[in-house]
Amino acid sequence: MSIKEKIEELQNKRNMILKGGGEKRIAVQHEKGKLTARERIDRLLDQDSFVEIDTYVEHRCFDFGMENQKTPGEGVVTGYGTIEGRPVCVYSQDFTVLGGSLGEYHAKKITNIMDMALKMGVPIIGINDSGGARIQEGVDSLSGYGNIFYRNTLASGVIPQISVIMGPCAGGAVYSPALTDFIFIVDKTGQMFITGPQVIKTVTGEDVSIEQLGGSMTHNQISGVAHFRAADDEECLNMVKILLSYLPSNNLEDIPQYETGDAVNRLSQKLIDVIPDNPNKPYDMKEIIAEIVDKGEFFESQSLYAQNIITAFARLNGKTIGIIANQPKVLAGCLDINASDKAARFIRFCDAFNIPLLNIVDVPGFLPGTNQEYGGIIRHGAKMLYSYSEATVPKVTLIVRKAYGGAYLAMCSKDLGADIVFAWPTAEIAVMGPEGAANIVFKNEIKASENPAETRQKKIQEYRDSFANPYRAAARGYVDDVIIPSETRPRLVSVFDMLEGKRETRPSKKHGNIPV
Ligand code: HXC
Repeated sequence: MSIKEKIEELQNKRNMILKGGGEKRIAVQHEKGKLTARERIDRLLDQDSFVEIDTYVEHRCFDFGMENQKTPGEGVVTGYGTIEGRPVCVYSQDFTVLGGSLGEYHAKKITNIMDMALKMGVPIIGINDSGGARIQEGVDSLSGYGNIFYRNTLASGVIPQISVIMGPCAGGAVYSPALTDFIFIVDKTGQMFITGPQVIKTVTGEDVSIEQLGGSMTHNQISGVAHFRAADDEECLNMVKILLSYLPSNNLEDIPQYETGDAVNRLSQKLIDVIPDNPNKPYDMKEIIAEIVDKGEFFESQSLYAQNIITAFARLNGKTIGIIANQPKVLAGCLDINASDKAARFIRFCDAFNIPLLNIVDVPGFLPGTNQEYGGIIRHGAKMLYSYSEATVPKVTLIVRKAYGGAYLAMCSKDLGADIVFAWPTAEIAVMGPEGAANIVFKNEIKASENPAETRQKKIQEYRDSFANPYRAAARGYVDDVIIPSETRPRLVSVFDMLEGKRETRPSKKHGNIPV
């Protein structure tokens, strides 16, 4: 062959592979409202930045007619490129090729790009759209998953790992996303489940649709498996870009810095009015967050799950912070099992990737009840204490209203290593709320009085006046400063600037034993 013919051969091979499973299957993909594997990569990465690798990889299976089965690209597109100029690695399963099923070499392509991401210290984004283990390849495909899980674990805490669910993700295949840092699911087209509706029907007799079982709402609202949901592929990929804009590329890199154009010394009179005079009245914590952070912008993770706690990325003076805040609007902001799990995982992610933590506290306590106790609130709540204590990134706590009992500690009190604790004058820091405390401390006096109800109210007020304020805690140094709410933003900008060079070493160990 002449060199010209050889180049022509190469181009033909390339063109064949670029067509994936062919026009018919691509049309079916589009009819379902889904983009193809390559279209997704094009939308995600900067224009013309994608460089594909392992394009010509083929399977080596000779069972069940596979010897004659062509699998262009082996059902997955892998490579590297940039997002807003920053390098990333990506893989995107191609449902048009044997349902994106994962065989031995499909897995090898994925593990190869994962290895590259880990070596280079760049985020890896996995776009999932697959019928799962390629049945014809049997144990080789199971081994492929095993190799991916192993690398997910090695990469955990070293590079951000992002899973995007844009089609089926079933059986053990769900465990790769589950091992990664963030899961995005697209409405209606993305599903995750261990066993499908048919198996469930056979084993338990339960009738459930695929969407109810493992759709985006299920995993964003009920199970807490996912972190973000999107209306379609396009929106989802844009959300991935937003998330990445807050993250460093690896655990050794500093957080990214942007020019947000929001004045660092901006005061907010609105903050004075957010908290109602009646301490039992709810308000929306998001109003406080929006007033404090740059341009009022914050990006919530798990916004639909355990809404009694907010976990969000935001910027202060252009630099990323992770916010953990109680939400008085939901369950009065109590900590429960799901909120503890949600917060603990977020705290650990931020700590792994050098993202300073801002903890905004208005917490009346842990949610009481047998449901919580039987469900192991002790074990789950402990995850928060552990995660905060373990975190060595700058930790700043702002107590805006209630901070009672164990929940006060669990929201990163001074004792759990908060570097600076601020309180608003509206803060109430005590072992428990005035009502509960007065009933116990003044029990005998209330009982013996002529008018117990009136005495009780008097005693509640007495307790509130002496304890439900920030000054007792400030007198002991548990609160570093009581600040005027309107000045919160400049005070926080200054304190995070001061803490930027924080270094903290811990006793050497293999790893701790977080109560999982
Ligand atoms: C081989 C597969 C496949 C698979 C789909 N295909 N899944 N080939 N192995 N796992 C092929 C189909 O034969 C079909 O080929 C093409 O992909 C498209 O599939 P359709 O069924 O036509 O698509 P659709 O109707 O959209 O249904 C999608 C689906 C269904 C719901 C995902 O294909 C399905 O139920 N697949 C099997 C899912 C499954 O049980 N996987 C194993 C899970 S266990 P043609 O040539 O007709 O286009 C698992 C264990 C992992 O993954 C363990 C890790 C530890």
